Amino acid sequence: MSENTKNPPTYFTDAAGRFTLYQGNCLELMPLLPACSFDLIFADPPYFLSNGGITCHAGKMVSVNKGKWDRSMGFAGNYAFTKDWIARCQRLLKPNGTMFVSGTSHIIHIVGAVMDELGLKILNDITWVKPNPPPNLSCRYFTHAAETILWAGRDKKCRHKFNYQLMKRINGGKQMKSVWTDIETPRRDEKVFGKHPTQKPLALLERIIAAASDEGDLILDPFSGSATTGIAAARMNRQSIGLEMETEFLDIGVHRFVGVPQADNPDRILDLIKVHALGNPTPTELARCLGMTERQAHYYRQAASILGLLRRSESGWALTEIGKTICENRQLYARSLLAQRILELPLVQSAIRKSRRYRTKNTKCRIIAELLSRSTALTGSTCTRRAQTLLAWIDWSLAHCCAEPVLPVFHAHCRDDSLGRQNEKLVKCQRFAI
Ligand SMILES: C[S@@+](CC[C@H](N)C(=O)[O-])C[C@H]1O[C@@H](n2cnc3c(N)ncnc32)[C@H](O)[C@@H]1O
Repeated sequence: MSENTKNPPTYFTDAAGRFTLYQGNCLELMPLLPACSFDLIFADPPYFLSNGGITCHAGKMVSVNKGKWDRSMGFAGNYAFTKDWIARCQRLLKPNGTMFVSGTSHIIHIVGAVMDELGLKILNDITWVKPNPPPNLSCRYFTHAAETILWAGRDKKCRHKFNYQLMKRINGGKQMKSVWTDIETPRRDEKVFGKHPTQKPLALLERIIAAASDEGDLILDPFSGSATTGIAAARMNRQSIGLEMETEFLDIGVHRFVGVPQADNPDRILDLIKVHALGNPTPTELARCLGMTERQAHYYRQAASILGLLRRSESGWALTEIGKTICENRQLYARSLLAQRILELPLVQSAIRKSRRYRTKNTKCRIIAELLSRSTALTGSTCTRRAQTLLAWIDWSLAHCCAEPVLPVFHAHCRDDSLGRQNEKLVKCQRFAI
């Protein structure tokens, strides 16, 4: 922190300090954060559309009322508020930092005008097409079926970060367009810890974070809501700070962070086996070293054991030969090795085969859940969560498997595959765009 800033009171932070939430009005909290400190900002501000209108939800006519925070203050009030928070965000961005702001026509034109006025550099206007929009009840307009996301650099000199190759790979080898049609509204299991009326899907934040930040980067969400940005950031090894006024929404965010018993981040599996390489930690020590709850650490240890990296012995858990090889390699190699290990699991291979031709994550997830329910004793939400974990593993592995030519190193520990067959499998997997 710089001299003229002080930490706002923390609502929640994890042991490693990588996921932090502050409670309060973002207009008051942002000046307390140090200038030029964030690589990326995602803001999903009030759209000011809760003004007594109607919409259709689950086949019924309901009023559009998201909460007091979403009531319009009139054009001048909305404009002044938007200018205040965007100016504060601009101060917080690093020179090459960028911000994404989502909105509908109620607010996004004001956001664009303010960005221009403050000298930000508008990079793209992304259209997020919603696959299942509610019908327009008045029948006097086109069905509202999209949101706009403006992407802008801090100022005109900003040399922004864009992970072009990764985006191309995710898009099946073609340049990714600014119209996103493959991201659905949040899945039901994204709301198991409580409902936020305007929750964004994790897939949307993962796309944004993957496109415009690197691992270790610091991300801010000034209107954090249920902390979707923070959850996505944690899954992708970024640090995050979220600002939110309402206790109810902060609590949902905390529960989402600590409560999801999924081992869906293979980087954490690497962290875990590195802890095991130093000794045989107790569950409490392991959880402390990893900055997670014991329950989460338990899930990660199960995952490492499914991947054959850890084995239970009489004296506790010990690394297998493959686990040791992965640990001994520097981070980039270790990742490639783990990615290959994941991609060669028979279950992962079937999951890829079965869901390859489907485009959206939700559909892929459903297909993989069906596969799991047929081939294992898993049912219901456990099945869905495992399917998500597999999907996250596949996603991660495809991004990391070819980082460097590591196959010969790994080959020493592969039971059955010749190098050629291994490569063939990888190439096949590469065609699976998530
Ligand atoms: C559109 S929602 C964000 C939802 C979020 N993207 C998610 O996925 O859950 C906007 C949030 O900003 C909060 N909010 C509104 N005005 C605020 C302010 N001035 N400071 C901090 N939070 C605010 C609201 O309580 C609401 O939760």
